[in-house]
Amino acid sequence: MSEEITITIDDQNIKARRGEKLLWVALDNDIYIPHLCAIKEEGRPNASCRLCFVEIEGLERPVTACTRKVEEGMVVNTRSPRIDRLVKTGFDLLLSDHNLNCRQCPANRNCALQVIAKKRKLKLKRDRFKPVDRKFALDDSPAEFAFDRSRCVLCGQCVWADRVEAEVGAIGFTKRGINRVVTTFNDLPLADSICTECKLCVEACPVGALYYKEDKKA
Ligand code: FES
Repeated sequence: MSEEITITIDDQNIKARRGEKLLWVALDNDIYIPHLCAIKEEGRPNASCRLCFVEIEGLERPVTACTRKVEEGMVVNTRSPRIDRLVKTGFDLLLSDHNLNCRQCPANRNCALQVIAKKRKLKLKRDRFKPVDRKFALDDSPAEFAFDRSRCVLCGQCVWADRVEAEVGAIGFTKRGINRVVTTFNDLPLADSICTECKLCVEACPVGALYYKEDKKA
């Protein structure tokens, strides 16, 4: 078992295990850091959402808490004007490519974006970046669930669930940059792919992109 160390987060002394990721140490101690893409079990986080920035004393630049391992004596601040600006920018960029019709979203009131907005007092509307104009066909081919890419935040939680938990590999990321999407091989409807409809991806989705049809709002 790894050595116990003490770190400080937002003026609180906290015991942790050397080598643990800072994000999980903070969350386990009820200190909130926004996050979408981190997966605790994953050895190498993909660090794509860019929401979990913190400052560490002695480091010039903010770092992502999901990639940083804790060290003895580390002093961490989760809030500062610089951190708040970075988180707001990351959040606003996410919203620029997100269907913001929350009332009709199956995840309304149970959505990670709404949690981040509430905790960090951010608005769930576009006020900064031009909306990305992408049209996606809804994939409602599975019997019990559907995939609405207009609500996908590309966090990768579904891909992880499909590959590592279900060991199927039906979905993955394709394309780069602004065109990046989660899709099946050859962009087939899920029902025509190797998807087994185990629904672990639906359970993993933190927003309303993968949802149970019975939860769909009229
Ligand atoms: Fe760290 Fe997404 S949780 S970059």
